[in-house]
Amino acid sequence: MTSQAPSSSPIGVGLLRPRRVCVIPQERPIIVTVDGPAGTGKSSVSRELAHRLGLDFLDTGAMYRAATAIMLDRGLTVGQIERFVAVVMSADLHFDWNEDPPVILAWDVPIDHRIRDADVTEHVSPVSAIRQLREHMVLKQRIIGHQHPRLVTEGRDQGSIVFPDAEVKFFLWATPEVRAARRAEQLRAGGVSDVDEARLCEEIQARDLRDSTREVGPLVCPPDAIRVDTSSLSFDQVVQRLEQDVRARVLGA
Ligand code: DC
Repeated sequence: MTSQAPSSSPIGVGLLRPRRVCVIPQERPIIVTVDGPAGTGKSSVSRELAHRLGLDFLDTGAMYRAATAIMLDRGLTVGQIERFVAVVMSADLHFDWNEDPPVILAWDVPIDHRIRDADVTEHVSPVSAIRQLREHMVLKQRIIGHQHPRLVTEGRDQGSIVFPDAEVKFFLWATPEVRAARRAEQLRAGGVSDVDEARLCEEIQARDLRDSTREVGPLVCPPDAIRVDTSSLSFDQVVQRLEQDVRARVLGA
């Protein structure tokens, strides 16, 4: 992928893609988890970190988004839990690892074009709170961890629930105001002119509350995670910080 933003760009707005260089010995397994709320730039940071370290990248939010798209496209609701979870299981969600970033498939068909649509974003939070769905996803993610033992995986529960023994754990944070400003900038860059930043901030706070107070797999900072406040850092600064921490842990460098 080509470079899309200068190195001083705010986190989550653009990303640099230097050539993939393997800094961790090829034969060495390592799981790096990156958790945190929406708007901290987790996905783009994790993807870039994986690139720089020569590791695979798992976007677990894409799995919950794919499940939500399936629910909506099949005319199901969060109330029909058993039926819904059975349909998601039959979809056998998995990734095409030949693509960069890996593309998510349902029934062996790419579904990545659908998962960022507004209706999916609107419904994904309650869907991701369904216990039976989470159990299924956690299992799938652990299988992926076995198949791809050199992995940067990002989500809400990767360090706390899915990979409690991960070698390096991060928890990215930023104030709701900063995250709303980043989202507003992304929307404006996408051509949306009437962006209500205060409303975005309220929505972010509501989502944080839902994600962190749900019974299963709540958003928490694992006690052994490195907490990084990205509020005043650029995208490149965050990636550098994480890369340094992984190198220090693994290579003593
Ligand atoms: O990171 P994202 O916006 O793509 O995540 C979509 C939703 O999925 C969000 O509401 C949080 C939820 N999620 C989760 O509950 N657990 C994960 N491991 C990843 C995402």
